[in-house]
Amino acid sequence: MFMKKYLSLSFAIACYCMVNAQTDQQKAEALVKKMTLEEKVGQMTQVTLAVIAKGGWANQDGSLDPAALKKAVVDYKVGSILNATAHALPVDTWHTVITQIQDEVKNTKLKIPVVYGLDGIHGQTYTLNSTLFPHNIGVAATRNPELAKAITKVTASELRASGVRWNFAPVLDIGRQPLWSRFPETYGEDVYIGKTMGAAVIKAYEEDGLKNPTAVASCMKHYLGYSASRNGKDRTPIYLPEIEMREYYLPQFREAVKAGSSTIMINSGEINGIPVHADKYLLTDVLRKELGFEGLIVTDWEDIKRLHERHNVAATPRQAVAMAINAGIDMSMVPGDYSFYDLLIEAVKNKEVPMSRIDDAVKRILVLKYKLGLFDNPYPEAAAKNNFAKPEYQALALEAAREAMTLLKNQDNILPLSKKTKVLVAGPSAQSISALNGCWSYTWQGREEQWYPADSKTILQAIRDKVGAANVFTTTVRGFDNAVNYDAAKLTTAAANADVIVLCIGEDAYAESPGNTRELALPKEQEELAKAAALTGKPVILVLTEGRPRFITSIEPSAKGILMAYWSGKKTAEAVADVLFGDYNPDGKLPFTYHKSMGEIVLYDRKPTEEVREVFNDNINTGYDPLFPFGHGLSYTTFEYSDIQLSGNSLSGDAKLSVTINVKNTGVRDGKHSVELYTRDLYASITPSMKRLRAFQKISLKAGESRTVTFTIDKNDLAFVNAQLKTVTEPGDFEVMIGNKKAKFEYK
Ligand code: BGC
Repeated sequence: MFMKKYLSLSFAIACYCMVNAQTDQQKAEALVKKMTLEEKVGQMTQVTLAVIAKGGWANQDGSLDPAALKKAVVDYKVGSILNATAHALPVDTWHTVITQIQDEVKNTKLKIPVVYGLDGIHGQTYTLNSTLFPHNIGVAATRNPELAKAITKVTASELRASGVRWNFAPVLDIGRQPLWSRFPETYGEDVYIGKTMGAAVIKAYEEDGLKNPTAVASCMKHYLGYSASRNGKDRTPIYLPEIEMREYYLPQFREAVKAGSSTIMINSGEINGIPVHADKYLLTDVLRKELGFEGLIVTDWEDIKRLHERHNVAATPRQAVAMAINAGIDMSMVPGDYSFYDLLIEAVKNKEVPMSRIDDAVKRILVLKYKLGLFDNPYPEAAAKNNFAKPEYQALALEAAREAMTLLKNQDNILPLSKKTKVLVAGPSAQSISALNGCWSYTWQGREEQWYPADSKTILQAIRDKVGAANVFTTTVRGFDNAVNYDAAKLTTAAANADVIVLCIGEDAYAESPGNTRELALPKEQEELAKAAALTGKPVILVLTEGRPRFITSIEPSAKGILMAYWSGKKTAEAVADVLFGDYNPDGKLPFTYHKSMGEIVLYDRKPTEEVREVFNDNINTGYDPLFPFGHGLSYTTFEYSDIQLSGNSLSGDAKLSVTINVKNTGVRDGKHSVELYTRDLYASITPSMKRLRAFQKISLKAGESRTVTFTIDKNDLAFVNAQLKTVTEPGDFEVMIGNKKAKFEYK
């Protein structure tokens, strides 16, 4: 009876949704029919706030220039505006900005609301006092998709509270090139983590329904292959064989489309010499036809212009516009002028772009606006505003930062420290806020600390708060780059009074190209500081605040403890102090391989020939020899695995295989633990990886407690891309590995 009721209810909901979707679709089609070419091309144009703000990029207060606003909205009929100018604005200022824009829309013939988009990358970047969470790399370390969802809901709420309904997130680029300056925005080197986290956060953004004041449209980015830059510099050439593209770069987007993402942003780079913005194969054949993506495709910053200006595949700016729109672009993030508008009108009139393509693009833009409820009410919603900066968000930020913390080394159980320890807190990150938050933090680069919430803490402050000022001293001053922070002699003298040195090193904030680096090694002065600290003879704990694995190979042996803190947002400092002094038992796991050196960049899912080093005639399996492997992360307790069991020793067709394992907390502290299941295909037509992560479950065990953990896998978890570029599962023997336990089965 209950089942029947449930089924008829879900049928009714499904019908309701279909009717609604159709309605949006039909409404959009009907509206397109009423539009002039100019109105259509206007919808496809996106400009940046600086274009309409008083004083342009220098604008500090969100005030708009009425003439410039009229020009954008009435004369050019722009469909979308994005970005902030100099820095984040108060929530009320965003309300004023968006209200003025939508008021101006009333002066147009069709009154089509403008959709505003922002980059809320790890929380709502551009609203003052929003809640910042760990970057994706830290979220990946939590191995906790539910937590990822929870923080994403806050980001969505705080965007919507600011009157903004479109977020340019999540980044779904895979982090396999550690030099890349956007590595911190990725979920690390593994496909499965990327797929799982990506789908979870897209649902968090959109599942409430885009009309709901807790939801925003998500934007999967940057399709496709952006992170595969050959030399690691942002927006430089990518060479990517299709087999690799399909195995490592595409699955996250496929999953995200299934999860219901409404929009997608395109990779600014070129793959095999073809700029992605001009690549009809990737934009139309793969994305639209194969992945079935129906939503809106937006360019990245200036990328149509760059087809002419930088990539040199279009001989004229107009050719660039025609190329991109014909390839499948719906909206151009122009964003500094109206050149796109003029050129696209010319191109259509010259029959270089068919009207059918324009209509298709505009329809998708209008569908998004209907879905977002902008036609019903384009203004900031009072109900949404109540969801800004709720006190409970702070607790969630702390929980997320704590779960990100990854303890890499704990020699002789130096950690946790007793609260009576006399601590010297040193290093450039000790009194920095920006080095704890990284990019997209109240400014694009995240470096201007005056915009951070007043109650943001440094690591020094958090440690003082925890153990009392009397036991804590420092040789540092505010600001990462201040020369005083690198004074090794001062550190050596001060260490005489300390029981332990907590040395906070790593990277200050950076975003995109300004984060390009020639070296993954830590800067010399940081290494020297660490060496001086070690020479004092006092135990040294390294706290790494960084967005990518900067080499610490030469200083690691002399450090007793190493804590990877990533850029974990507002509560990074508190989470660091909690772990160092034992108020939180760390459970983060590395979502990437922590390499030793540039010559040894081998990833965990290596091929057999990367594993073997031939030395004379001996095969030595030291090919994967990182400083810390993918998945590494210590706890203050210990977990033991036993009794791995499979539901059968073979699997066929679409059947499922259960894998169970017993996990015991054998230590004296309660703790959380991520149980990770890997598989290995022993022989295959394409050289198989040594291991691939296929599932994980984060569990919580009290001291002494054990639990049986069950995973269910099927043939899709064993699949790979073959030479014909098809995803297949070949019959043969497989191994499943959990911790130090293994079992074999056959796929028939
Ligand atoms: C970045 C995008 C971002 C856009 C708008 C670009 O430079 O690559 O990730 O969404 O700017 O701010």
